[in-house]
Amino acid sequence: MARKIIIDTDPGQDDAVAILLALASPEIEVLGITAVAGNVPLPLTAKNARIVCELAGRIDVPIFAGCDAPMTRPLVTAEHVHGKTGLDGIELPDPDMPLQDSHAVDFIVETLRHEPSGSVTLCPIGPLTNIAAAFQRAPDVVERVEEIVLMGGAYFEVGNITPAAEFNIYVDPEAAEIVFKSGAALTVKPLDVTHKALTTRPRVEAFRALGTPVGHAVAAWTDFFERFDMEKYGSPGAPLHDPTVIAYLLIPDLFSGRHINVEIETGSDLTRGMTVADWWRVTDRAPNATFMGDIDADGFFALLTERLARL
Ligand code: RIB
Ligand code: CA
Repeated sequence: MARKIIIDTDPGQDDAVAILLALASPEIEVLGITAVAGNVPLPLTAKNARIVCELAGRIDVPIFAGCDAPMTRPLVTAEHVHGKTGLDGIELPDPDMPLQDSHAVDFIVETLRHEPSGSVTLCPIGPLTNIAAAFQRAPDVVERVEEIVLMGGAYFEVGNITPAAEFNIYVDPEAAEIVFKSGAALTVKPLDVTHKALTTRPRVEAFRALGTPVGHAVAAWTDFFERFDMEKYGSPGAPLHDPTVIAYLLIPDLFSGRHINVEIETGSDLTRGMTVADWWRVTDRAPNATFMGDIDADGFFALLTERLARL
């Protein structure tokens, strides 16, 4: 029985690779893709999600537009990393497949209510606005979530958009607070893990060597978006953040971490969006998240390349 998931996303080149990995994996059934404002504004993330599904030949996957701004703050985007379109690096045709009429938040709520309780995993790989809005509008659905597996936050890596905060959490810290306090089973892929999953040249060339439109697109996207991180960190590649969420569903043993307390800073302007992870258990705050600290990067890229070859 395939694992049912909803991918909530702000494509973004790394989001695109995560979506492709999910669509290439028979162990996973993507019930729908919900777009949220983040890397680029909502019209673009909703368009990009469709571009990626068409690239994978999967126009059967329903795609929904969600929230176009954080719950209480103005939107912060990341064109400096992802380019103006959010999928810079390769020219792909505008999508033909339509968006679904329903709002993403309604789709999340209705899916959780109609699918058997505990059978749907939420995979947010952008700001948490849609997820938090669903939990606020329909608190009854929280206990019906099998697991939330998200990309966001950081402890040892601290921050990437500010000195203290990772982008997905920083954009909507109030939403993140709702999700982290919801009581739902939560597994977090922070920068601590994704910064160890770098798109080195051999790994990018392995994508290109697939010789397929998907392999070509993924290599081109990576060539584009890695320039920012390589300049900033002087690293031999960029962190391929979002596919780590899907890889965890496929081979959890690629990762190791701890079940700890993680809370979100929402008050301070200086550190807003920080995930205050009690990695050393120095407080008596109750554990609420499995927070990953390490990844088998070679295993991750081997899985990713093998699966992309199937598209
Ligand atoms: O900080 C990395 C996260 O921010 C990734 O999800 C990337 O796509 C951007 O949304
Ligand atoms: Ca993302």
